[in-house]
Amino acid sequence: MNKNYALITGSTAGIGLDIAQELASRGHNILLTARREDRLKDIAEQLTADFGVDAHYVAADLGEIDAPGKIFDFCTSNNYDVDILVNNAGYTINKKFHEISEEEEERFIRVLGLGVIALTKRFIPGMLKLNSGKIMLVSSLAAFAPPARGALYGPVKTLVNRFGDAVNFNYRSQGITATNICPGFVETEFHTASGMQDVMDEVPSFMKKDSKTIAKGAVDAMMNGKRLWIPGLLIKIIAFFCYHLPGPLVIKIGSSLAGGRYD
Ligand SMILES: NC(=O)c1ccc[n+]([C@@H]2O[C@H](COP(=O)([O-])OP(=O)(O)OC[C@H]3O[C@@H](n4cnc5c(N)ncnc54)[C@H](OP(=O)(O)O)[C@@H]3O)[C@@H](O)[C@H]2O)c1
Repeated sequence: MNKNYALITGSTAGIGLDIAQELASRGHNILLTARREDRLKDIAEQLTADFGVDAHYVAADLGEIDAPGKIFDFCTSNNYDVDILVNNAGYTINKKFHEISEEEEERFIRVLGLGVIALTKRFIPGMLKLNSGKIMLVSSLAAFAPPARGALYGPVKTLVNRFGDAVNFNYRSQGITATNICPGFVETEFHTASGMQDVMDEVPSFMKKDSKTIAKGAVDAMMNGKRLWIPGLLIKIIAFFCYHLPGPLVIKIGSSLAGGRYD
């Protein structure tokens, strides 16, 4: 007999790991995926020990074009029905635009953008059969924010948000909802992994959130079928102004508040 599972990408660290724990604590069976196999194995064992749920993993690098197919085949060949898909894996590239190779750019867009679309495309037919599906897209405040040094991060997160909206438009009436999660600054491995811990260290602590709080709120929002969740009042206010003020004004304010960041 098939069982239902929640599949979480980027679940070896940070927000993805906390989302996996949050979902397991609510009784969902878990499928983990990321690149670091040793961590995946330990986390899967721990989730089963702590919460008594089924937990399995498949190691995959979403920068590789065949990764979404590999993850999907792993699920279908083991009869794991995915009714919750959390697209979370991500990182940023800490280089100037002209210093990034096209290969690095393509991998980046696959992990944060094309992989999200490819996985969602593969798992929607199974959700349609179940008449039920929850899809989470872990995006960012950067989706609304003015242009920054990471030339591609914001644009790809904007694509993710628009894609989540399109999934809602096309499938909500058939029981499938998509929830865009747009955090500001979250304490995870993200900044060290991208060589930007110094930037994060300069962010005032009142602007930072811990990833457990983000994970709990994100899972609540997804389970309630919300289209968008922006954690914290301050980040909500920033997103509101970025979204509603005229674009040129947002860029001007951004430049004056963060001198040099937009050079
Ligand atoms: N931290 C923040 O301030 C912040 C703010 C807004 C939005 N976000 C978004 O939140 C999401 C999670 O980030 P986080 O802060 O939790 O970062 P994190 O602690 O660095 O975790 C990132 C996860 O993504 C996985 N990953 C990275 N590259 C991958 C690849 N090529 N293939 C497969 N998996 C990959 C990592 O696992 P492996 O290394 O094992 O592959 C890890 O599990 C990202 O989409 C990020 O853009 C973060």
